[in-house]
Formats: sequence, structure tokens, C-alpha cells
Amino acid sequence: MSEFYKIIQVDNIKEIQEEIIGIFPSNFYGKAELFSIDNSAKVLLGLPKIKKLLDTLDISKGVDTFEFLVLPPGGRTGIHTDSDDFKYSFNIPLTDCDDTYLSFYKADNIADIGYVSYENPVTKEMIYYKPYNEDVCEFIESSIIKEPYIFNTDIVHNLENKSNKEQILALIRIYPNAEHAVKKYWL
Ligand SMILES: [Fe+2]
Repeated sequence: MSEFYKIIQVDNIKEIQEEIIGIFPSNFYGKAELFSIDNSAKVLLGLPKIKKLLDTLDISKGVDTFEFLVLPPGGRTGIHTDSDDFKYSFNIPLTDCDDTYLSFYKADNIADIGYVSYENPVTKEMIYYKPYNEDVCEFIESSIIKEPYIFNTDIVHNLENKSNKEQILALIRIYPNAEHAVKKYWL
């Protein structure tokens, strides 16, 4: 078992996936993109099945934003930490994809190349993150994850889709005010 993320068992995962994919903007299929929709947290919490799951996990009050990440076959994110107000991400793979890897790294000051921002193509708000120089990051561990999981986005990480199918993930960003609930999953 990894100390860097925690798998969350969800009995009705197929229903939850269907519910969230139902609000995925179809013009983003096939595009390597990270974006949120307008009023993303409110929209997400308006979906009854995911709302119930977040309530059960006691993290619905901590939902900051929610983003879609599209990883085409062979697609990957750079190695980074997320640098917005949230501290955790509850990630739900939405497509049945066998080979999506979540990897963690150790990076020191030399690898830290500062903050980067880019414009969310839907909301036009800025998304901030902190990329690292990949040549000097020390690899720690990598796992194929098909189930929902929670992890601390302050730990240097990246995602890679090594399959030949598109992977779409819902990234539910959790504020530190729900930390007490999130920490339960590490006990
Ligand atoms: Fe991230």
C-alpha cells in the first residue's frame, strides 16, 4: 500500500462515472486538456450520486473546484505540484482505461522552476501550478490506478496514460478545511 495516495472504494462507481461524464463538454473529447466548467463545484454538488458520495466521505464542504483532465493515448502531464488554494485532490477515472499511471517524485530547490499559469479554456480563469525540472527529480513510485483515489497535491507528481484509449478523469479539489475528513483515509 502506498503512503502517497489512498484508494477510495465506491460501490456504485459506474453510476458515478456516468453521472459526471454526463456533464463533460463533448467538444473536449480527443483534446489533451485540463479545464473546469463554470461554477464547477456547484454543478458537481448538484449531481445527486456524487453529492451523496462526497457527503458520505465527509468532504463535500471542502470541495473547491472540480476539473476534467483529458489524457489521450500516450498523454502525460509534466511533473508538478498544484498550487491553488486546495490541498487534496479526489480523482475519479471516468473511462475504463487499463494503464493510467500516477507517479510520485522527490524534488529539491534545483528542480523547482517556479509557478506557471495558463488560462482555463472554458472559464477563462487562470490555473496555477508548479512544474519541476524533470531531469533532476528523483522518482519514488508509480502505480496503475483504475479506482477513485485521494492524494495530497503538494507532493510532486504526474499522470500518464500508457494505454491506447483516451482517459478522462474528474479531479475534485479539496480545501484544507476538509483535511480532518481526508486524513481519516490515511489512518
Ligand atoms: Fe496535479
